Amino acid sequence: MKVVFRTADAPLPRLVARLVSQDALPADLDAVVREGAAAARFTGKTGQVHEAFVAGEGGVKRLALTGIGKSDADDRAANLEKAGAALTAKYLTSGESALAIDFTGSGLTGTQAASVLFGARLRGWRHDVYRTKLTDEQKPSLTELVAVAAPEGTAAAWEIESALAEGIEFTRELVAEPANVIYPESFVERCKARLEGTGVEILVLGLKEMADLGMGALLGVAQGSVREPKLLAMRWKGADVAKPTAFVGKGVTFDTGGISIKPAAGMEDMKWDMGGAGAVAGTMLALAKRKAKADVIGVCGLVENMPDGNAQRPGDVVTSMSGQTVEVINTDAEGRLVLCDALTWVQKEYAPATVIDLATLTGAIIVSLGNEYGGMFTNDDALAAKLDAAGKTCGDKLWRFPLGPAYDKLIDSSIADMKNVGPRYGGSITAAQFLQRYIDKGVAWAHLDIAGMVWADKPGQTWDKGATGYGVRLLDQYVRTVLEA
Ligand code: BES
Ligand code: MN
Ligand code: ZN
Repeated sequence: MKVVFRTADAPLPRLVARLVSQDALPADLDAVVREGAAAARFTGKTGQVHEAFVAGEGGVKRLALTGIGKSDADDRAANLEKAGAALTAKYLTSGESALAIDFTGSGLTGTQAASVLFGARLRGWRHDVYRTKLTDEQKPSLTELVAVAAPEGTAAAWEIESALAEGIEFTRELVAEPANVIYPESFVERCKARLEGTGVEILVLGLKEMADLGMGALLGVAQGSVREPKLLAMRWKGADVAKPTAFVGKGVTFDTGGISIKPAAGMEDMKWDMGGAGAVAGTMLALAKRKAKADVIGVCGLVENMPDGNAQRPGDVVTSMSGQTVEVINTDAEGRLVLCDALTWVQKEYAPATVIDLATLTGAIIVSLGNEYGGMFTNDDALAAKLDAAGKTCGDKLWRFPLGPAYDKLIDSSIADMKNVGPRYGGSITAAQFLQRYIDKGVAWAHLDIAGMVWADKPGQTWDKGATGYGVRLLDQYVRTVLEA
């Protein structure tokens, strides 16, 4: 959705939104509109939209009173996004092609006004490429947001927020695409196409390169698929610092479980088992588009996990790039096998000070946290605090889980250095313990298990049902407050 800026005296489109705080209705409202709003119990509560029709130049206008909550609310920014989102949710398929948001008398700052636009844009994203039979009523009609009388600083703030929105939308696209369209090679191609000209440097390793490096864990997962695995590295060097920061994503473009095959019901969900890699790719796009002053490497471990005559078997022992050996008890615990080699590689290649991985790693994290928080596991309390704060600020929330030797010993193997699964209980934690065995001394590391967050079965604050884009805002916020501060 395109955003344009206009002054209040230019002609407005037929649909105009006014932002109404819960403190008081605007003083200049027409008496009929005011009484109509009161009768409809419109109070300015966040996300309420009350539609009135008023006579204007050139015909009747649709006036959408939009609640933005109390001006002293702690979660003001989130409320403003929600208000913008409520507008696009209501008018996306309304037949109107342009929606004016009139900031006159709103009392908002430029940054706050940009939050309204941000929510409106994010909520207007849909993935309709495979719907060939939508009727005109079902098709999105709204293509333009017109910011009228925007407060000073809105356009500058929007420059930055629109870069972030672009990143989130790219992630959603990658996540929403089916696995016959997005597989390791096409994931790489799409990233190359989107990042072209942004200044992001791209490095891609194929099967041969990974075999030469000894990535036996990642390759063991890939060997049951006809799709060639890829390791994709994207670097945005917007600052000169001693050590970069690395983001690493699990990119299993489809997870059947392999020989430890998953039940048929719901298996289609496993097209979004690349949500971690998708978040990393979207973040790199956002960082480059807003020219972040940070040195960041995004790595995606891309494989497809299939059962096949050549697939790995339960009981197989593989040697990872680190030299550590793994007994593959369950081929469905494949994410950690992919990540361990990606983690070893990024530490060896770039010596980052901090590594943050994102992965749809365990169903157990969904049992723990549902669809409200990502799970955080880290060896560094300071990093935990920074990520926690970033999550609270941007809304991609995290909840910390424990790590420790008592959990670690649960993945000891009697034939190899470790096995790829522990007992049923504490499954998300033993998965994290597995990854921690690949983290070098002195590296601050966090593992974010986002299995409950990348896909939504119902519309949320700033997303329709489907791919949420979770993780992009979180990493971008981390870059803003920690690396760019
Ligand atoms: N991709 C799944 C985790 C997952 C499950 C994500 C459901 C989203 C929804 C992962 O590869 C997996 O299969 N994990 C297993 C691990 C088990 C075999 C130890 C799981 O969670 O069941
Ligand atoms: Mn699996
Ligand atoms: Zn998986």
